[in-house]
Amino acid sequence: MSKNPVTRRQFLSYTLTGVGGFMAAGMLMPMVRFAVDPVLSAKASGDFKMTDQKIADITEEPVRVDFSYEQKDAWYTSDVTQTAWVYKNKEGEIVALSPICKHLGCTVNWAGNEDHPDKFFCPCHNGLYTKDGNNIPGTPPRGPLDAYPVKEKDGFLMLGNPVENPFVRKK
Ligand code: FES
Repeated sequence: MSKNPVTRRQFLSYTLTGVGGFMAAGMLMPMVRFAVDPVLSAKASGDFKMTDQKIADITEEPVRVDFSYEQKDAWYTSDVTQTAWVYKNKEGEIVALSPICKHLGCTVNWAGNEDHPDKFFCPCHNGLYTKDGNNIPGTPPRGPLDAYPVKEKDGFLMLGNPVENPFVRKK
């Protein structure tokens, strides 16, 4: 029996296998992360943020609701403020619309133009939307305003991440 249980050939073989495995793991990790990320994102999209809007105070007149939360991006933490236009529709559902115009991303306002007191108005290029967020043909926006999913907690409104407007699609 040899005094040296590991031959030079075996040593080289083990070393190359180890280094090769390490390099393969380095290449595979980003691919695995890329494949799994949508699952993690889907979970994150279920996050609801608390607002200070009382459910009982919501009427048929859209009101602006600003809400802030802390966002963590790897090691970086920042405070984010978002806005929603909130009201109750004729069916009694709470509608919370994103104010981001679907033309070039300006901020729309309810009754922002005295000629259109019952519409959302975008001052950048005179975009108009109906109360449920539908873009009005003949104005620049090409799609309806997004809507926040809503939830109630202890009598207060919670908002999720904006999604395609479900109130317009119902028609
Ligand atoms: S950005 Fe709103 S109409 Fe152009």
